Amino acid sequence: MRLLTAHATVVVSGTKIAAEIGTSRSDIWRLIQQLRDLGVDIAGHPSTGYSLKSIPDLLLPDTLSPQLQGTIFGKHIHHYYKIDSTNTAAMEAASGGAPEGSVFLAEQQTAGRGRGANQWHSERSSGIYCSAVLRPAVPPSDVLVVTLAAGLAVHAAIQEIDSRIAPDLKWPNDVLIGKKKVCGILTEMNADITRVRYIVIGIGINVNQSAFPADLQAIATSLRLVSGTEWSRVELCTALLKSLDREYRSLLKSSDGVNSILRRFQERSSSVRGRQIEVEEDASLQGVTDGLDERGFLKVRTAQGVRTVLSGTVTLR
Ligand code: BTN
Repeated sequence: MRLLTAHATVVVSGTKIAAEIGTSRSDIWRLIQQLRDLGVDIAGHPSTGYSLKSIPDLLLPDTLSPQLQGTIFGKHIHHYYKIDSTNTAAMEAASGGAPEGSVFLAEQQTAGRGRGANQWHSERSSGIYCSAVLRPAVPPSDVLVVTLAAGLAVHAAIQEIDSRIAPDLKWPNDVLIGKKKVCGILTEMNADITRVRYIVIGIGINVNQSAFPADLQAIATSLRLVSGTEWSRVELCTALLKSLDREYRSLLKSSDGVNSILRRFQERSSSVRGRQIEVEEDASLQGVTDGLDERGFLKVRTAQGVRTVLSGTVTLR
């Protein structure tokens, strides 16, 4: 891909590609077929050479890295055409010492994971499947605010590309458009009682899906479905990581960072206050939302008094 992109307007001979990669021409033919199967639009054949028909919207490190210089995410970007789960890859890498700011991106996930026992629908090259390693020096109880900040980053990135779209944050980690989910965030961590070793923020955004499987149709949407146009995943992913970088830095630096995140999350969520909800895992937790507490947990007015939701899936009534 690097060779073809570097010579985007010309035909590159199989012999040249083979020499540069250090393999045979027949191997190049096999690799070209593999890229085509992955959706890359390549013209040509072994006797004439190959050229890209269009610049593919792939989330390649060579494309993203220059645009992310100056952020914590510019230096360690890992890209997979197909992987089980970017969160699994990022957690494994983090346990092996991957530095803060390492990013794992995939065109397709075969076992994308959602919160609880849910799977994440991860169709090839339609969505953004992104996991980032962070190593904040905070106790585990402060991690919720980092994940709320990730929701704000997704919100800002979508609005930066198309200001007509009004995403709605649903506590703790969903981004909705018109009541349907367009993004989910799965935060996982490794910590002891007092200190976080690392966290992985896994972000799945439905970008260019034109339809969803029957079981998701009523609850999921994509940016393409709501806007009527195809989106550049490269542009959106760049905006997302820049915005996550801004949120994360200001959270760590400024004494008012936590309050700013809580305030903006509440401004951008139609459901953290005054909405009838139910928490799926806890039948007794039903009531009306009453804002976030100082650590970002959801307060709910119930028949038994004000309760704080620490975890679980919130269903809006
Ligand atoms: C949810 O809403 O349940 C969370 C979904 C999180 C999906 C993303 S896609 C990238 C990363 N890798 C995974 O396996 N899951 C997260």
